[in-house]
Amino acid sequence: MNLGIKNKTALVTGSSRGIGKSCAISLSKEGANVVICGRDKKTLTESLSELKNINENTKGIVCDITDENGLSNVVSEINDKLGNIDILVNNVGGSVKKEGIEGTDISDMNKAFDLNLTPTIKLMQLVIPNMKSQRWGRIINISSVYGRELGGNLSYMTAKAALNSITKHSAIDLAKHGILINAVAPGPVSHPGGSWEKFQNQNSSEVVQNFIDENLPIGKFGWPEPIGDLVTFLASENSGFLTGTCINVDGGWSRSIN
Ligand SMILES: NC(=O)c1ccc[n+]([C@@H]2O[C@H](COP(=O)([O-])OP(=O)(O)OC[C@H]3O[C@@H](n4cnc5c(N)ncnc54)[C@H](OP(=O)(O)O)[C@@H]3O)[C@@H](O)[C@H]2O)c1
Repeated sequence: MNLGIKNKTALVTGSSRGIGKSCAISLSKEGANVVICGRDKKTLTESLSELKNINENTKGIVCDITDENGLSNVVSEINDKLGNIDILVNNVGGSVKKEGIEGTDISDMNKAFDLNLTPTIKLMQLVIPNMKSQRWGRIINISSVYGRELGGNLSYMTAKAALNSITKHSAIDLAKHGILINAVAPGPVSHPGGSWEKFQNQNSSEVVQNFIDENLPIGKFGWPEPIGDLVTFLASENSGFLTGTCINVDGGWSRSIN
């Protein structure tokens, strides 16, 4: 299948490992010029050389995307080196506190929003004007099954549910400008350095197997590539009638029919 994104410029946040890296690899294989980013220079440099083997135009930027001024600089740097951002994948996110309502104060909620929401909103606002003027753009927000149904801790679930609302609202707003905006909701995805790898390393094989038996109908943890490939399809020319949706990639983990 020719996905029609050769030479499009893509920014994937948090892409030096895990799901973000898989999105970057999959987009690069389709010929997109991808910018990857992360805070740790060593991990980013290693991933960059791997990605350059696929597409030598790949760029890497060391940055903390929770730094609002830094974000504007990142976008300006990409605009200078590679042109307008055609494809934005908002991948950075995660839990900041593993508690419910009684153990979560407002500063914990703000931290979860600062990581999962604020950079996404800011980046969308930075790239949408150019997408509008070229009448083409793709934005994919990496959510979670826990943004769609009960699960995880309060601040993470709330932030991811809000991310799904941002996805829906802006998709409806911008569809007439040729900008398509969707979310992807992973279930438990294991990868080197990720939280589910730690869970498997820190628990007995019996505990891990019980977890799989009780939660994952497909019989194993997820892996990043199916998410990277779905994101690439959503970023493509071929996804033309898809917007404002959230797609689970979860091995049957979710229970909701919506
Ligand atoms: N893995 C799962 O099972 C799962 C399930 C549902 C949803 N998700 C969602 O999928 C997304 C990715 O998950 P993951 O497991 O691949 O995450 P991860 O293992 O935490 O990897 C995150 C990536 O983002 C970078 N990063 C983290 N904070 C950053 C920041 N402030 N600025 C710039 N880069 C940053 C990391 O590099 P540095 O640390 O060097 O910055 C790394 O490259 C998240 O939004 C998560 O909520 C994951």
